[in-house]
Amino acid sequence: MSIKRRDFVRHASMTVLAGALPVSLVELAFGKQRENISFAYISDSHIQHIRGNEFVRNWDRGLIRAVAEANLLNPRPDFIMYGGDLAQLGTKAELDHGAEIMSALRGKVRYVMGEHDYYLDLGEYWSKLFGPQYYSFDVKGVHFVVLNSILTTDEWTFNRWPTGEQRMLEMAGLDNPNGSPFMVGEKQRAWLQKDLARVRKDTPVVVFSHSPIQKIYKGWNFWTDDAEQVQEILRPFDDVAVVYGHVHQIQYNQIGNIRFHSVMATAWPWPYPQSYAQAESYLPKLTVPMNRADPFFERDATGWQMIDVSSGKVALNYNLYDNQNRRVGFNPATGQPEDSAYQAPASRIPPQTHF
Ligand SMILES: [Fe+2]
Ligand SMILES: [Fe+2]
Repeated sequence: MSIKRRDFVRHASMTVLAGALPVSLVELAFGKQRENISFAYISDSHIQHIRGNEFVRNWDRGLIRAVAEANLLNPRPDFIMYGGDLAQLGTKAELDHGAEIMSALRGKVRYVMGEHDYYLDLGEYWSKLFGPQYYSFDVKGVHFVVLNSILTTDEWTFNRWPTGEQRMLEMAGLDNPNGSPFMVGEKQRAWLQKDLARVRKDTPVVVFSHSPIQKIYKGWNFWTDDAEQVQEILRPFDDVAVVYGHVHQIQYNQIGNIRFHSVMATAWPWPYPQSYAQAESYLPKLTVPMNRADPFFERDATGWQMIDVSSGKVALNYNLYDNQNRRVGFNPATGQPEDSAYQAPASRIPPQTHF
């Protein structure tokens, strides 16, 4: 543990330093001068209440570790994002407990809404703790937008379930056919259009959502129903990145001017849909699936991210607790996001079977 921790700190510091290249080098590489900008990204902790003061210990531990490691980053990240699903069933006990663990973070923290935070009381208590469910902000010349992408139809939300608890349980299952596809919705799309109207088209735009703003696999709600309409609003910008949680696995993709990057969970990893033989694969072509070395190792393939935006294009450094760290960033030579170690087919680790 102590050796891994030391390696991690060294790795994290080097990554931040790599983002602080001399200006001339940055200009050379990217043709544009940009200040060093980075942020830490923690997601999907699924804090789960048992009874009284008891919470599921593993999920607590995952978040506590991410908070402790993010606090060791030096230089400090410009801010910290939390990507949604802080709670498992959206209760006050879970959100309070999660907020208390998060309160140990040094620096400005911002939050994205997850479906596990939302469907008990439709985000009421979450909003009291963490503020608005969609908003934007600017840091060092980059425009950041946060969307609540886990909304669904009014019929499903308001008319189908006798209690908030049941509604929450129906939406919380990974492959429950009683769930409903996520969407950003008309109201937020109108807001987004208005928000972006005042942003220059050559400003880098980074969008945070909980579900992917692209369609990957509907059966597990790795999906946003109005993804194309949101992408259309983002289309006029030179350079857009969408960073999302929810899928608990590494995914990346590019659709036109928009690059998509998922983040890891601190709680548990999901398998890739295609690892279920019956599920047709919609995993973006670019994505090199991560190596899942040991499905019985509770921390395998969980972790958090340090995201470097110094080139104007996000590069995700995946800090994986008990797996190989990964870096997925824009490769100017190919014009697409790539895994710095494993993109080349010859360097990939063959998938393993566990039966
Ligand atoms: Fe999640
Ligand atoms: Fe989720």
